[in-house]
Amino acid sequence: MHFQWYPGHMTKAKRMMQEDIKLIDVVIELVDARIPLSSKNPDIDQLAQNKSRIILLNKYDLASQQQTNAWKAWFEEKGYFVALVNSKNGSGVKNVHEVIQQACKEKIERDRKRGILNRPVRAMVVGIPNVGKSTFINSFAGKACAKTGNKPGVTKGKQWIKLNKNVELLDTPGILWPKFEDQLVGLRLAFIGSIKEEILNITDLSYELIKFLQKNYTGILAQKYEITEEEDPLLTLTNIAAKRGCKQKGDLPDLDKAASILMDDFRNGRIGKITLEFPGKDEK
Ligand code: G4P
Repeated sequence: MHFQWYPGHMTKAKRMMQEDIKLIDVVIELVDARIPLSSKNPDIDQLAQNKSRIILLNKYDLASQQQTNAWKAWFEEKGYFVALVNSKNGSGVKNVHEVIQQACKEKIERDRKRGILNRPVRAMVVGIPNVGKSTFINSFAGKACAKTGNKPGVTKGKQWIKLNKNVELLDTPGILWPKFEDQLVGLRLAFIGSIKEEILNITDLSYELIKFLQKNYTGILAQKYEITEEEDPLLTLTNIAAKRGCKQKGDLPDLDKAASILMDDFRNGRIGKITLEFPGKDEK
């Protein structure tokens, strides 16, 4: 399988983010807990130089708890402040306030020494499409809709959400594009549904997922679909098709339909809590 991306709007988004980042103290970067590296764009490291950095392992409800903890430790070792969040149901979201205070401790202390008291920390959310930025902002901001805009020193038209007396959040997230010179990165993004279906062959994609699961989560498909896992992914998919009654004319198995069911089950966490890349093995 070969993946391509559209560099078109990337330049504009990057330019906008460069401007926005000048206004803030802390970058809150969302990654998908199932693929913390493949869902991260390394450009942000350069864009966010000299800013406090927070990584949110979002959608941790869909990832292996053990691997998510391992990724948390991995990012902390790299100097990030890290939190696990499920933006959809809100779990872990409140804790982000505490993490912001920790991440900005030095800045707050510096302000205090200069006699600047109670200046709120300014934050912005960034991440690749579909990682959960809007869901997180809605959950984090809750009812705090007191928007403040057009302040002196603030670019005209920027809207800030005043979360409390300590934190102001830029209301529009910065969009990063995934970098997938590495085809494995493209594959993992496709697994979680971050690449448009139209450009993918869903059945080929499901073979790759079956191969990955049979190797790294042996038995999970057998358990979920009550089938035998075969060495050849086509045969495993055929077994899923038979079990799920996916048939086409002439009583032949409808593999495309079975593949859609499999991908949908996987993306919605119905096969289990599955992490697709592992610290120590897949890190660059
Ligand atoms: P974006 O702004 O970064 O592009 O992402 P957005 O918030 O639109 O979220 C993309 C999808 O991810 C949404 O699902 C959203 O509900 C889901 N999502 C966000 N955070 C979490 C999380 O922590 N856990 C889980 N399981 N899902 C999360 P959708 O299919 O587009 O919509 P819907 O089915 O929720 O209506």
